[in-house]
Amino acid sequence: MRRKFVAGNWKMNTLSRSAVELASALAKAVPARLPAVDVAVCPPFPYLSAVGAAITGSGVVLGAQNVWHEKPGAFTGEVAVEMLLDVGCRWVILGHSERRQVLKETDELISRKVLASLANGLPVILCVGETLDQRKAGQTESVLDGQMQGSLAGVDVQGIGQVVVAYEPVWAIGTGMTASTEQAESAHLHLRRWLEIRYNPGVAAATRILYGGSVKAQNAQSLLEQPDVDGALVGGASLKVDDFLPIIRAAETARKS
Ligand code: 13P
Repeated sequence: MRRKFVAGNWKMNTLSRSAVELASALAKAVPARLPAVDVAVCPPFPYLSAVGAAITGSGVVLGAQNVWHEKPGAFTGEVAVEMLLDVGCRWVILGHSERRQVLKETDELISRKVLASLANGLPVILCVGETLDQRKAGQTESVLDGQMQGSLAGVDVQGIGQVVVAYEPVWAIGTGMTASTEQAESAHLHLRRWLEIRYNPGVAAATRILYGGSVKAQNAQSLLEQPDVDGALVGGASLKVDDFLPIIRAAETARKS
């Protein structure tokens, strides 16, 4: 049975005070590891340490939103895997569509980041997802295949055990246009079949696949009840405890059909 996983991607939001307030309130509401759900928050780099301190000893763990794949050295403005581990990160989000589109990250660069993270023992949340044009053109599955193939190049069976996949249709991110439960389940099932072919049935059965894209308290339950939806990667609704907590609760109660 795959444990559910709810992660908050704070993106480029909060300041030091609001970050710590949010983290502290969440830690208070989730004081210990939940029986069936893992919870993580991924604040901006400058607040990782402060948020890490605020959630210490709670059921919430720390993640980062990006990393650079080289060893520490002359890479002005970048952050190394070792640094993320040093400040207590247990996850790093890679391949987010905002980085693919705005920062022009390629699958090749993402795969380097994935490999560097895994080599150093930092588990990865790997995001994949199609644009609206690609969906309309019937290319959803081929786009997902290409992103999986490229971003996981060189990742072996052992490495994939430290990867969580997040299906985030670009058209659903920050738009309020959530994928229907059928659309989400169909994409997740496709991704699971891809894992089975590329790796093996055991990997396909064990790998967690999260859904991301306008997840809210109102739609979380039905999405999380889909057999192949193992959790949620939440943007906007992770910035308020009153919005984020119901999503965690929905993951706790979601039944597997
Ligand atoms: P929203 O929940 O704001 O749509 O963002 C989703 C997302 O991009 C999480 O990584």
